[in-house]
Parts: sequence; structure tokens; C-alpha cells
Amino acid sequence: METVYSALKPTGKLTIGNYLGAIKNMVSLTKSYDCIYTVADLHSITVSIPAAELRENTLDMFSLLVALGVDPEKCILFLQSQVHMHSELSWILNCYTQFGEARRMTQFKDKSAKAPENINVGLFAYPVLMAADILLYQAKYVPIGKDQQQHLELARTIAERFNNRYSPTFVLPEGIYPKVGAKITSLLDPTAKMGKTDENAEGTVFLLDDKDTVMRKFKRAVTDSGSEIVVREDKPGISNLITIYSAFADKSISEVESEFSSSNYASFKLAVGETVASFLDKVQQEYKRIRADKAYLSDLMKSGANAASAIAYKTLSKVKRKIGFIGI
Ligand code: TYM
Repeated sequence: METVYSALKPTGKLTIGNYLGAIKNMVSLTKSYDCIYTVADLHSITVSIPAAELRENTLDMFSLLVALGVDPEKCILFLQSQVHMHSELSWILNCYTQFGEARRMTQFKDKSAKAPENINVGLFAYPVLMAADILLYQAKYVPIGKDQQQHLELARTIAERFNNRYSPTFVLPEGIYPKVGAKITSLLDPTAKMGKTDENAEGTVFLLDDKDTVMRKFKRAVTDSGSEIVVREDKPGISNLITIYSAFADKSISEVESEFSSSNYASFKLAVGETVASFLDKVQQEYKRIRADKAYLSDLMKSGANAASAIAYKTLSKVKRKIGFIGI
């Protein structure tokens, strides 16, 4: 069976953007592929994050992924920092990545512009670590949102370069993007991606937000001039809300447009809020149960890390041999 790989970084709390862009596909792919999923904690220290917050976010994210249906019985779920091969392959791949390639990454440019006081080398090399994550497991498919496409393409470039220089070593990965929801935008600025760490949290719906908060955020969502509820380029606010509703209600865009053809913005926003809140309510109940069970979580992490290490070790050994390192 082909392998699917994806990861999310615990820099903040998961959002509905993460769910619709990546997690929903991650869950459905577990039915037909060997899936390997990671909480990418090594990635999260490229920005300054207090230790207690990182610990909390990591445990929250791990538990929430399980609650959302990333079933550890059907896939491998683990913490990146518990499998040392990620760091090791990442160093190696740094030496097969051109400075100019890394410098072109738009996320690097955006993030360094946002935090000019902390443009660390890790932030620059971040996409190489991401390539190492994917390539260690010989993943064929990578379910991600649109914002990760450029990183995925760099991973392919690095893999191809290594394969050409030595001999076929890595499977070339392909991105899997959702038909609807590959880029969910902020409720307050529909031209910008909805992010975990946006300055104004009112534009972001977190998966752990309670019903009142969800309803408030949707009620205040920025809409466009006019009153039609349709997806159109000049209506980024309403288009984003239709996309969210369509993905949570499992209805096509045109079904949603006709369902609300005689409705107004205010009542449509309430309907979107209700649909999202009722989905989140079920997930949060399951999440609370899992998050409180420390022993269960720790067992899951241990077995996930062991299973991942066995696969990662094979790829890393092969890579080291090809390069000319002497084994022990
Ligand atoms: P991260 O943690 O920022 O986001 C996790 C996943 O959520 C998707 N996503 C979105 N999709 C739609 N709309 C949005 N507003 C939105 N915001 C986020 C992202 O595209 C991503 O799929 N570098 C990665 C984590 C990573 C990774 C990997 C991913 C590390 N190693 C290997 C795939 C394979 C990241 O920062 O994602």
C-alpha cells in the first residue's frame, strides 16, 4: 500500500482552516492508505514559544487529532521530536538544498517580515526539515492546504536531486488538496489566510472555541457589499463563509447557493455558526475525555514513535550508505 504523510505544527491551537485544509483529508485517507501523521514540534521552535505553551499545545493537538478521527489504530501518529531521524535527515538534506531555493520560499519571507527580531537559521531551513519528514517515510501523497504547496514542491526538488546524484532513494511526493477549503481565510480579512497565530483571534475559529465564541465570530465576520449569497471573486467574505458551510455540511457550493438564495447575510452567518458549533461540540466532548487520560496519551505517543522510528531508520540508513558514511 502507498504511504500518506502529513504533519501540523503546535505553534498555536488548531483552527477550522487546519481541519478543512488538511485534517479532514488525513482522516479519510486512513481508510485506503498506510498513513503516518506527526505533531511537528521541532518546526514550532522556529518562532519564539514559551516551554509551557509548547508542551500544552503539543498535548492538546495530539489529543484533538485523535478526537477528530485520526485513529491511532488505523495509522501511525507520533511526536516529531521523539523520532530523532527527522533532525538527522534534515541536516543531510540541507546539503542538497540551494540557498537560493530556500530564500525564495514565501512563508520564509512573510515570517521574517513579521518577526524581524528573530530571523533564525531554523526558520530559513524549515522547509528542508519538512522535506525530511516526508521523505523519511517514502510518502507518495501529502494531504495539505494550499499554503504548503511551495514547500511540498521543494521537497520534490530535493528528492529528485538526491535520486539523480546517487540512485533512486526517495519516492517523489505529491500534494493532496481538498476540493473545497484548501485556503480558508480570516473572518475579519478575507484576503488573508486564517492562521493559528493571527494577531486578531476574532478572525480565526479555533477547534476548541465554545459555542458562544463561534457564534460571535461568525456574526462579526466581514461580508461584502450587496446581498447575494454566491461564490464570486468580488465577494471574498461571503465566498469564504460558503466554503466553510459547504465543507462542514458536506454539501456542494451550488447546493449551498441555492439553499440560501432567498436568505440574507445575517441569517446565513447564523446558519454557518450553528453548523460549525454543532460539529465542534461533538469533537470537544471526545477531546476532553482523551486529553484527561495521561496514561493513554503517553502509551499512544510511545507506540507511535516506535513504529515511526522503525520506518525512518530504514530510509536514513540507506541515505547514509549512499552518501559514503561508514556504518557501525
Ligand atoms: P501548519 O501547522 O501551519 O498547518 C497544518 C495544515 O493546515 C493547513 N492550513 C490550512 N488549510 C486551509 N486554510 C487555512 N487557512 C489553513 N491554515 C493551515 C496547512 O496547509 C497544513 O496542511 N509546515 C507545515 C507542517 C509540516 C508538514 C510537514 C506538513 C511539517 N512537516 C510534512 C506536511 C508534510 C505547517 O506549518 O503546517
